[in-house]
Amino acid sequence: MKTLLIVYHTMTGGTAQMAQATAAGARAAAGAGDPPAVQVRCLRAGEAGPEDVLAADAYVFATPENLASMAGLMKDFFDRCYYPVLDRLNGRPYAALVCAGSDGQQALRQIERIATGWRLQAAAPGRIICTRAQTPEDILRPKIIEPAQLQACEELGAALAEGLALGIF
Ligand SMILES: Cc1cc2nc3c(=O)[nH]c(=O)nc-3n(C[C@H](O)[C@H](O)[C@H](O)COP(=O)(O)O)c2cc1C
Repeated sequence: MKTLLIVYHTMTGGTAQMAQATAAGARAAAGAGDPPAVQVRCLRAGEAGPEDVLAADAYVFATPENLASMAGLMKDFFDRCYYPVLDRLNGRPYAALVCAGSDGQQALRQIERIATGWRLQAAAPGRIICTRAQTPEDILRPKIIEPAQLQACEELGAALAEGLALGIF
């Protein structure tokens, strides 16, 4: 059985919805077999460690952009995991998701650079979803990601699960 690992951080809920939609799409595509062809694990960044990374076959990294950077707890995940798994993931597929107020490019670039260091291969272009939060009040408000954007996350999860199940990656 193959494993898709989704690691995410969220503060106001947007990235969590993206991660959960990705997981739902992957689980639906993984089929109803017992066990299913693909196991989907969706972990908050603080709960994920090197052993989880090593045990997976594909990855989705999902983070808010905070202060023109990936979120601190997402960075902490990469800081804890980077060297313990270096050179042991080569060629595995990944995708990056960023939830941002209005930009997101810097956080995406950071994840892509780390993935390059890990010699992962991008299974899909990085996706940024903007919540259009700009004022302090909007930034701190719980986020609701639009259905079309969640559907795109579901489709990403499905594509990753199907690729794993079929041995495409
Ligand atoms: C401290 C802080 C800094 C932020 N900095 C940025 C930023 O640099 N660029 C941006 O596009 N959005 C920025 N945002 C907006 C968040 O990315 C946005 O609210 C997003 O929805 C957060 O994801 P979450 O709902 O999963 O927590 C910032 C938010 C906070 C709280």
